[in-house]
Amino acid sequence: MITFANRLNTVEEYYFSKKLREVNLLKAQGKPIINLGIGSPDLEPPTRVIAAMTESLNDAVAHKYQSYQGLPELREAMAGFYKEHFGVSLSPLSEVLPLIGSKEGIMHISMAFLNEGDEVLIPNPGYPTYESVTKLVGATPVFYDLLAENDWCPDLIALEKSDLSKVKLMWISYPHMPTGATASNKVFEDIITFAKRHNILVVNDNPYSFVLNKYPRSILKYKGAKDVCLELNSLSKTFNMAGWRVGMVSGRSEYIDAILKVKSNMDSGMFYGIQKGAIEALKCSKMWFISLNSVYEERRQKVWDLATALNCTYDKTATGLFVWAKLPSHKTAEAYIDMILKEHSIFVAPGTIFGSNGEGYIRFSLCATVEELDEAIARVK
Ligand SMILES: Cc1ncc(COP(=O)(O)O)c(C=O)c1O
Repeated sequence: MITFANRLNTVEEYYFSKKLREVNLLKAQGKPIINLGIGSPDLEPPTRVIAAMTESLNDAVAHKYQSYQGLPELREAMAGFYKEHFGVSLSPLSEVLPLIGSKEGIMHISMAFLNEGDEVLIPNPGYPTYESVTKLVGATPVFYDLLAENDWCPDLIALEKSDLSKVKLMWISYPHMPTGATASNKVFEDIITFAKRHNILVVNDNPYSFVLNKYPRSILKYKGAKDVCLELNSLSKTFNMAGWRVGMVSGRSEYIDAILKVKSNMDSGMFYGIQKGAIEALKCSKMWFISLNSVYEERRQKVWDLATALNCTYDKTATGLFVWAKLPSHKTAEAYIDMILKEHSIFVAPGTIFGSNGEGYIRFSLCATVEELDEAIARVK
């Protein structure tokens, strides 16, 4: 047996990868599981996306290696999307880089900017990949608290009282996953000022802007942001294209070049048909967002009813693809979701997988049909 690299000792198998084995076993035993754990959109991508992808398959270049930077038309469509929806100007030549899903961007950015021993500010609660990637590249995670009493936004004054001299990078994600909190203009401005003062690169991971969110915002819109900020975005949730694996990173050209230096050594471009489909998606009119959100709105009302039936409370102003629900006092998240799974065959994510501040919370996904949600409510009632 050959030994594994030491870095593997720093991470564990992803929670969902383990828990879904248990859930699938229950399914195989005949339990009628309703899965509200994962945020994998079950709705179709726009029809024009499928058509563009299908038609592209006969193009002469369709099956060849593609450009490391993506098709120029894809970068133009990404820049156009940022202009139209966020009011942010990006050069398609140098300030946008298509990614094979935004998740890979977390690794590429970390490889491009972090040395061993550098510290990385990571939100607690937050997307677990920030921590695991930080550890995989030999950097040190430093968690910062996000609390309900601060509307799940960082307390920068408290952070400044700590030693930030080794901090190189800070992950933020607004609209926030898992809580659905949004950041105001002031929060973004204060974060940029903080980043400049301490020479920290801030990356806003922004895949949920267009789900049940009235005011999509990009950190790149704010004054001085391009000096110290990058933004990740994704077609996964906005266009129901999670399995296509299309995302992007945007920002200052020197930063994008550094990321490309890593990325071009790891993959050899994105499949042509996927790029052609993505171009069409990015050009969708406002009608797409209206119809997408009307489905999620109906589902969210049902999930609120389900959460209430489970004695949980929630914030009706929260955004995004999930409902973040507070448990009755003295209940712990993992015990509560195990109870829901055992008694009602409904799988919900425990807040603790997003960090210790997720204790006392559970996360419901809106990626289930109204019929499934009605059935879930009926089971609990
Ligand atoms: C906060 C956050 N960032 C990034 C991702 C990764 O998305 P993508 O499908 O673009 O890789 C997810 C996916 O669930 C997410 O929740």
